[in-house]
Amino acid sequence: GAAKPVIVAIDGPSGTGKSSTSKAVAAQLGLSYLDTGAQYRAITWWMVSNGIDIEDPSAIAAVAGKPEIVSGTDPANPTITVDGTDVAGPIRTQEVTSQVSAVSAVPEVRARITELQRSLATSAEYGIVVEGRDIGTTVLPDADLKIFLTASPEARAARRSGELKGADVHSTREALIKRDAADSSRKTSPLAKADDAVEVDTTELTLPQVIECVVTLVEEKRAAK
Ligand code: DC
Repeated sequence: GAAKPVIVAIDGPSGTGKSSTSKAVAAQLGLSYLDTGAQYRAITWWMVSNGIDIEDPSAIAAVAGKPEIVSGTDPANPTITVDGTDVAGPIRTQEVTSQVSAVSAVPEVRARITELQRSLATSAEYGIVVEGRDIGTTVLPDADLKIFLTASPEARAARRSGELKGADVHSTREALIKRDAADSSRKTSPLAKADDAVEVDTTELTLPQVIECVVTLVEEKRAAK
């Protein structure tokens, strides 16, 4: 029946329209929404704010369980707090962005955040759209639908520098390629397409087209449940 919760995993590198797509799909279909990148950014913000040495994985591992990270899953108003402080703004700074790959490569950090993600996903009444890098492969291997979004490096850099309001496309492209390489090559649950994921190349598509494509795929799955 249509009332069973549906779990959707959307993975891919940055600049593929993952967040905009995931939020819009969740809103259109009445599902919850979780931005797992925001959780990794939040724990990174806490590490930086508390003077933890980001170069030292064992220092990060030792305090990985300390910050309390709470994600609000309404796609119309996704929120994120650390120990009760709203960090939606601070997690988007260049400082956090440049450190997040190192922090999120630490296994203790991933174990902690993965547990939060699973508990939010299984408690969503109507279902949830979870976006990230390892959702289909590791966090929710039994998801009803897995999508892997891709786009050319040029398209991704252009979208990201548009978001950053006037940032230089070339330096954005370099930083983005470096972060994707780090996220794809780490030992613990790297960015990867699950074998059973549907790959959608968004290079030549508009955002409304990508949203429509994913909504159709979710509706088909829901009808078949
Ligand atoms: O989606 P984003 O750019 O906000 O993600 C920030 C970083 O968090 C990304 O560089 C890698 C990490 N991340 C991860 O390791 N696993 C996820 N499921 C989501 C994000």
